[in-house]
Formats: sequence, C-alpha cells, structure tokens
Amino acid sequence: MSNTTGEIFKVTTFGESHGAAVGCAVDGMPAGFAITEADIQAELDRRRPGQSALTTQRKENDGVKIMSGVFEGKTTGAPIMLLINNENAVSKDYENLKNLYRPSHADFTYEQKYGVRDFRGGGRASARVTAALVAAGALAQKYLKEKAGVEFLSHTAAVGNVSVKADVSVLETITRAQIEQSPLRCPYDGGKDMEAEIAAALEDGDSVGCVVRGLIKNLPAGIGEPVFDKLSARLAAAVMGINAAKGFEFGNGFEAARLRGSKNNDPFINSGGKIMTEQNRNGGALGGISTGETIYFNTAFKPAPTISKSQNTTDKQGGAVQFSAAGRHDPCLAARVVPVVDAVCAVAIMDLFLIWRAYARD
Ligand SMILES: Cc1cc2nc3c(=O)[nH]c(=O)nc-3n(C[C@H](O)[C@H](O)[C@H](O)COP(=O)(O)O)c2cc1C
Repeated sequence: MSNTTGEIFKVTTFGESHGAAVGCAVDGMPAGFAITEADIQAELDRRRPGQSALTTQRKENDGVKIMSGVFEGKTTGAPIMLLINNENAVSKDYENLKNLYRPSHADFTYEQKYGVRDFRGGGRASARVTAALVAAGALAQKYLKEKAGVEFLSHTAAVGNVSVKADVSVLETITRAQIEQSPLRCPYDGGKDMEAEIAAALEDGDSVGCVVRGLIKNLPAGIGEPVFDKLSARLAAAVMGINAAKGFEFGNGFEAARLRGSKNNDPFINSGGKIMTEQNRNGGALGGISTGETIYFNTAFKPAPTISKSQNTTDKQGGAVQFSAAGRHDPCLAARVVPVVDAVCAVAIMDLFLIWRAYARD
C-alpha cells in the first residue's frame, strides 16, 4: 500500500477507524523549530466531529500526543510521530456491513484488492484517517506561516444547489477568523442557505455534496517543479487524495475552456514596482510555478455515501439487499473537510518549499 507522500517532507499515515489509534510519522521536518501538542491540537479540533448539527454526532476528542522527534519544545530533526487514540468506536453499528457492499463507499474495492476488509467504520477507507493528515499539516502550516507568512484559508463555497462565486478581489479579503465564525466554514453571505440545504437532506435521512474553495496566501514566487511536480499538479494530487473528492479546478479552471485567448489572457502589470497579473485568472501559478499571487482552486466533494435512507445494493454473494445505515454519519462533508484541504495543501507545499530552498538559484 502507498501510505507515504513527499520527497523531503515525507509523511506516512497509519491506522483504521476502529483500531487502537490513527497517526502519522513525519520525516524531514527541519530541526530547531518550536512546536507543541497545542499547536497541532488546534487544527485537529477544527476537523473533530460533533461540532454542530451539520456534522456527524460521533464524539471523538482526537487528542494528539507527540511520541518522538521533539525535545524541550523544539524539533530535533528526527522523525516526528503523532498519535491520536480512537476513543469513540461503536463497532456494533457496523456489524450489518460485514456481508454487504455500501453503495458508493469503498467496501467492494478494498475487498477486491486485498481479499480481506476491516468493515468496522470503513477501516482504512474511513475519513478518520484524515485526522492523521491534519496533524501532519499542522506542522507544515505553522512552519510555512512563521518562515514565509503563508496562510491556508480554504472554505466552503457551495452546498448542493446553493453556491457562491467570488471574485479574486473578494478572496483577497478573506480571513481565518471569518471562516471560523461560520459553523459551515463559509465566509460568504450564502452560508445560511447552505445550512438549510444540509438540514433538509438530514430530515430526509440523506446527505448532500459540496464545493470547498482552496485559498493560499503569501506563497513566494518560484515554488513548484517543472513537468512532474508542478504546483497545480501536486495540489490536485493532494486534494484528490482526500476521501470523497470528485473534482478539481485550478484558477479559473473550466471557465477557461469556454474563452478565447484574448479574453482569458491576464496581462502583467507594474503595481507600485511589483510585477503581477491584472486579475490573477491563472490561480497564482504559471508553468506549474507560483507567481507570488494568491493561489485558489475549487474541489467538489460528493455527499457522504452512508445514509439512513433505504438503498438497494448486493451482499457478497450477489444477492439483492436493502440497506439503511444505523451509524452516525456526516450529512455534508463541508465543515469537516475544510481543515483537511488546508492540511494536505500545507503538506504538499511544505515539500515543494523545502525542495525550492535546497535547489533555488543563488
Ligand atoms: C471529513 C470527511 C468525513 C466523512 N464522513 C463520512 C461519513 O460520515 N460517512 C460516510 O459514509 N462517508 C464519509 N466520508 C466519505 C468516505 O470516507 C468516502 O466517500 C469513502 O471512503 C469512499 O471513497 P471515495 O468517495 O473517495 O471513493 C467522509 C469524508 C471526509 C473527507
């Protein structure tokens, strides 16, 4: 199984939903950097379930322990292992999954590939595994903020049929405080209508999809490697690696496909001595390398597949069965997936940042 990402900043995650713990081992974190469990916990608390009626009511504390690689509050250069114990695993909720395949979950494919399946809570395919990514991302976010002022400001941009299109000038004004004051992590006016979409789905025993807008500010120009490790490609791989991610568009994305070059091109301008583009239509990267402008992209997440509404599926023998979930599930992923998007982007950019620092011109 490939459970490791990165060339210099290497992150390996481990653990299943209802095993003893989930966590990660991070190798390549520069030595001498101050980090505490509280720094990591703050990000994990953003992802934690049960924060509002809009997420699953599972209660997981997600308390993180630094097991290695930090001495007297500073990184030593040794691998950093972060451990999060699983405390709220109600495995009996999943007993009825042993012999069937949930529609649009990973039960069928895991079994086809490995021949065995930890069916409790979705095992390794559970979103519980994203807690480990958030922990690793907290290290990267703190480092990039302190060394270069980089900020990760993903937020909810759409739920079901309610969506907010925002100009780049609006994106420039968004702050973490604005994002966090909305239970949906939506800094736009449409947040309340989105909440109503989720409440309606929940009422029907159903779930609903969403769009998370990735937003990264203050990334210096020059980050991203030619051909195979373009900034846009690394971000796409990172974000599409999150459970339930179904679509990714960088910068003005699919809109660009509808335009002529003369309309899509973004002229360079001299803004008070700084050369930049007029509208940042390219999303902050050209040729896979950051321009020094704000990075933005959209990611579509499907509705959580496990719902209490009755659905048709089959058992392992191919017999038709009716299935409705007993467990506690997310009616919409938006609120909880936002910190995961920030985390995976920070992990990807931390790696490219360290590569840039190692190989940048004199
Ligand atoms: C933050 C987050 C929370 C999720 N919560 C649930 C959930 O409560 N129930 C569920 O069935 N799927 C949930 N999912 C989605 C499944 O993990 C995912 O759909 C499943 O692993 C199948 O993978 P795929 O959708 O990427 O093909 C969640 C995903 C994320 C990112």
